[in-house]
Order: sequence, then C-alpha cells, then structure tokens
Amino acid sequence: MALRLRQACVTDLPSIYRGEQDYIRCWEPDHEDTWRLQLERHLVRWVENFDRLTVAIIDEQFAGYSLWTPEQDYAELSTINVSQAYRRNGIGRTLLDAYAATVKQQGFTHLRLSVRPDNPAGLMYERAGFVCVGTDSHGYLRYERPG
Ligand SMILES: CC(C)(COP(=O)(O)OP(=O)(O)OC[C@H]1O[C@@H](n2cnc3c(N)ncnc32)[C@H](O)[C@@H]1OP(=O)(O)O)[C@@H](O)C(=O)NCCC(=O)NCCS
Repeated sequence: MALRLRQACVTDLPSIYRGEQDYIRCWEPDHEDTWRLQLERHLVRWVENFDRLTVAIIDEQFAGYSLWTPEQDYAELSTINVSQAYRRNGIGRTLLDAYAATVKQQGFTHLRLSVRPDNPAGLMYERAGFVCVGTDSHGYLRYERPG
C-alpha cells in the first residue's frame, strides 16, 4: 500500500464533499438537512483554507483528507476523514501527525479539536497525545495537545 499526502486540488472537492456527507449520515443523520442548507458556508470554509486541506492518496486513489484552521492562538483540526475501504491502516494517524507537524512549523503551540464522545476517533487522538479538556455546548469532547 503506497500512501502519500499532498495538498488538495480542486478536483478533490467532490470526494471531500462525499466524505463529509458520509460523516453526517453516519454520525449526525438528524442534522443532514441543516448541514445541506449550510453547504455554501462549508464550501467557503474549504476554499478559504484550501492550503490547509491535505489529501491522502493510496495507489493513486483518493483515500482521505484533513482540514485545519488557524485560530487566535491555536490550530484547530476541523475535519479528518478516511474513506471506509481504507480505514484501520494508519492513514488517519498519518494525516493527524502531518497536521501536527505543519502547524508546529507555522509556529502554533497549541492543537485543538472536538469529537463526539461515542466516536472511536477519540482513541486515535488519545494515542497521539491529545488530552480531553472538557465538553463544548454541543456535547462534543474538546481535546488539546501542545504543538
Ligand atoms: C477516525 C478516522 C479518521 C480514523 O482513520 P483510520 O485511518 O481508520 O485510523 P488509523 O488506522 O490511523 O487508526 C489509528 C488508531 O486510532 C484508533 N482507532 C481508529 N479507528 C478506530 C475504531 N473504529 N475503533 C477503535 N479504535 C480506532 C486505534 O487506536 C488505531 O490504531 P490501531 O489500528 O493500531 O489500533 C476514520 O475512522 C474516519 O474517517 N471516521 C469517519 C470520520 C470521523 O469520524 N472523523 C473524526 C471526526 S472528529
């Protein structure tokens, strides 16, 4: 399995859209209508942060992506997703490590993200050194790690 990461290009957007849609359908089906109504806002966020959108490629196939955004004094991992067929092969962890390395290079000393309490992604974050620091107003767990 030959894995490489690269910056997203515009032709990745349909795959990213499908990944986000799969996530909503799997984890927040009650919110799919709202998510769809806000598609324009999501698209703007992806495009405005295009240079922070990383894509994982396996054997020349799209296999996943991550997006981070710069906040006042920390770098927020906004999305991380690996296509179903490629999960549990270390791609999520590779994307997570790449985000950590990039934001460190850019001078951020704090990494943050949030995750549903029932999402096993939390295990990946904990194994990567993230620590749960509380819960946000939507019931998501907030995780942090020094950069
Ligand atoms: C979360 C996600 C990105 C993980 O990607 P992945 O490529 O499967 O993750 P990895 O193979 O790198 O896993 C790294 C570690 O995380 C933990 N982990 C990941 N998925 C897990 C699962 N379903 N159950 C239990 N542990 C899991 C394990 O400790 C794993 O290490 P191991 O395989 O050696 O045991 C992927 O499951 C996904 O895209 N989920 C849907 C989108 C999503 O929920 N994103 C997170 C939103 S906060």
